[in-house]
Amino acid sequence: MGTDTAAADDTTYRLNDGTSLPAIGFGTYPLKGDDGVRAMVSALQAGYRLLDSAVNYGNEEEVGEALRRSGVPRDEVAVATKIPGRFHAKTLALQSLRDSASRLRVEQVDVALIHWPNPSQDLYPQAWQALVEAQRDGLVRSIGVSNFTEAHLHRIIDETDVTPAVNQIELHPYFPQAQMRGINEGLGIRTQAWSPMGKRQAPFEEPPVADAAAAHGVTPGQVILRWHVQLGSLPLPKSATPERQRQNLDVFGFELSETEMGAIAGLAREDGRLFGGDPDTHEEM
Ligand SMILES: NC(=O)c1ccc[n+]([C@@H]2O[C@H](COP(=O)([O-])OP(=O)(O)OC[C@H]3O[C@@H](n4cnc5c(N)ncnc54)[C@H](OP(=O)(O)O)[C@@H]3O)[C@@H](O)[C@H]2O)c1
Repeated sequence: MGTDTAAADDTTYRLNDGTSLPAIGFGTYPLKGDDGVRAMVSALQAGYRLLDSAVNYGNEEEVGEALRRSGVPRDEVAVATKIPGRFHAKTLALQSLRDSASRLRVEQVDVALIHWPNPSQDLYPQAWQALVEAQRDGLVRSIGVSNFTEAHLHRIIDETDVTPAVNQIELHPYFPQAQMRGINEGLGIRTQAWSPMGKRQAPFEEPPVADAAAAHGVTPGQVILRWHVQLGSLPLPKSATPERQRQNLDVFGFELSETEMGAIAGLAREDGRLFGGDPDTHEEM
């Protein structure tokens, strides 16, 4: 798979802390309420084994409910959540993690991330210390970050000697993030891709995607997710539609050529971000 040799096989990644995650996860935003639970149960039954949530999605209770309703054994599913900006101070971050575990109704959170660095607050190193402590105490299994730049990563690694297991960043064909993927890979950090399809601006009709879909007899969505897998990026597609949920996992039976991979990456735009979410300036509380 690409140049990244960390993949144990096509469908699993081994993280730098010795644990594993599936090669494709399920994005849960903005799934909420009973419809949200139903969509997540359907995703679990389709085979997803990583659910990506966050305090700010307001759906941790639904994630926990879906987990129980699905009948899939707890230890087969990785549940991920994120600490919001308003809780970066260390004691608040630790409380945020305990509250997440309680809303999810799990003993241990499988993956906990800092949602955004919010550099103007300058408290993300405290949130990272809280994650390091929570992992040491067993409240959290794997710890990581989201939307971190190279400078943010170096700061927390230098201060704690602990390297995040994952960095979840915006990544889709209009914004392929070659540089940030290289930085993550160089540090041994798994790149997760948010809005992996490009959300509402998904390039399903762009010729490199549509042509590859026709050539391989798959859908444009499957081409985009296969592109992620071959890049070594772990995509987190969201779909409330059972048929799309199944399709989005079924991307291991074909391979894109180097030409097709390059043509899709060629869709990159100078600033291909969906909403200007530059982590140096965009902040979320
Ligand atoms: N860390 C962060 O800061 C951050 C930021 C944004 C998102 N995220 C995470 O990333 C996840 C995914 O991001 P996202 O929801 O923004 O974008 P996305 O997964 O790229 O796109 C979701 C949209 O694509 C549609 N879709 C999914 N599969 C499809 C297919 N095979 N064919 C056609 N359409 C398809 C879905 O429609 P239907 O539901 O109608 O099928 C939905 O409208 C979120 O749920 C969240 O977990 C994280």
